[in-house]
Amino acid sequence: MNILLTGGAGYIGSHTAIELIEAKHSVVIVDNFVNSNPLVLRRIENITGKKIPIYCINIADVAKLDKVFCKHNIDAVIHFAGFKSMSESLQIPLKYYRNNIDTTLALLEIIKKHDVTKFIFSSSAAVYGYINDIQYIESMPVGHCSNPYAWTKLFIEQILKDVATVNPDFSVILLRYFNPAGAHTSGKIGENPNGIPNNLFSYISQVAIGKLAELKIFGNNYPTKDGTGVRDYIHVVDLAKGHIAALEYTNKHKGVEAINIGTGIGFSVLDIVKTFEKINKIKIPYQIIGRRAGDIAECYADTSKAISMLNWKAEKTLEDICCDTWYWQIQNPNGYEK
Ligand code: WQD
Repeated sequence: MNILLTGGAGYIGSHTAIELIEAKHSVVIVDNFVNSNPLVLRRIENITGKKIPIYCINIADVAKLDKVFCKHNIDAVIHFAGFKSMSESLQIPLKYYRNNIDTTLALLEIIKKHDVTKFIFSSSAAVYGYINDIQYIESMPVGHCSNPYAWTKLFIEQILKDVATVNPDFSVILLRYFNPAGAHTSGKIGENPNGIPNNLFSYISQVAIGKLAELKIFGNNYPTKDGTGVRDYIHVVDLAKGHIAALEYTNKHKGVEAINIGTGIGFSVLDIVKTFEKINKIKIPYQIIGRRAGDIAECYADTSKAISMLNWKAEKTLEDICCDTWYWQIQNPNGYEK
C-alpha cells in the first residue's frame, strides 16, 4: 500500500517509515520539521535504499495538503504529527489545542475528499488519566487527563469516532503508546530532543555522553517497589512494527478500535538506571529531588487486545532499549546537528 505519514520525519514516524518500506509498502512523508530534522530523510534512504517523497508543509494548510493527495494515490494515513510534550503543554495549552486539533481536522477534510478510508492515529496511554488502576486496559474509562497534551489526544480520538460513525467505510485504529524508547539498531536514527530532554531515556543518554552532569530523579516516595516512578518502556522498533500490524488489520476491519501498544511490564526509574549502567558499562550519576507536577506513580499496559486483534507483541527487551539508545547516542553525540 501507499502510506502517507504525517510527522514522518519524527522519532516514531521515521522508525515506522523504515519498517513500512521493509514490509514492501511505499511511503510519502508530510512534515514541517518543527520537531524533527530533514537529515532523517537521508538516514532513512541510507538504511532502506529508498528515496521517500517529502513535503515540508503545515498540515493545517488544506490547499497544500490537497496537492500532495492529488499527486500521490494514498491508500492509508498514519497521523504522527503533533506537539508531544506533556510539561510544555501545561505552559502553552492554546498552542497545543490549536496545532494538534487543527491539523487533524484539516487532514480529515482532505482524506474524505480523496476517499482514503484507512487511518491510524498516534494516541497515548496518557488518555487514561490519573484515575485508572495500574495496568491500563482499553475498556477502562478515559479522561481525567493531567495535561493539555493528553486532552488533545483524547479529543482527537473522539473526533475520529464521530467521523467514523458517519463514514461506514472508515477503518480507524487508535494506537495508545506507552513509553517509546530506544533507537534503530543501525545507530543512524534515534530520539533527538530539542534542548533539555523531557523523557527519561534521552536524559540518561545525555548524562552518559557528558552533555548533562547528572540525572535528577523526580521523587522516590511513590507507592512503588523502590519509590520511583514505574512505566512501560516499549522499544521504538517494536512500536513501529505495531503500526504495520495495525495497517494490515485495516484490510479486514471497519469502525474504530483503541489498542494499547506497550510491553505489559513496568520498570522503575532506578531499574532503568541500573540496567543502562550494566549493559553499557557506564556510571549514571543521579540525585533524588521532588516529584514532577503531573507525574503518576505507576502505569503499564494490558497488551491482550494487541496480541489477539493484531497478532502483535513487543519482542525487544529493556536491555535492547538501553543498548540501542546508547549506540545511537555515541554515533550522534549532538543528535542530527553536526
Ligand atoms: C518517565 C519516568 C518520571 C525524566 C511519557 C512521554 C509522553 C507520553 C506519555 C506518549 C517518570 C521519571 C523522567 C527525568 C525522572 N508518551 N523521570 N527524571 O512522564 O511517562 O511521559 O509517556 O504519548 O510523551 O513523555 O515519561 O520519560 O518523562 O518519565 O525521574 O529527568 O521517569 O518521573 O517516572 P512520562 P518520562
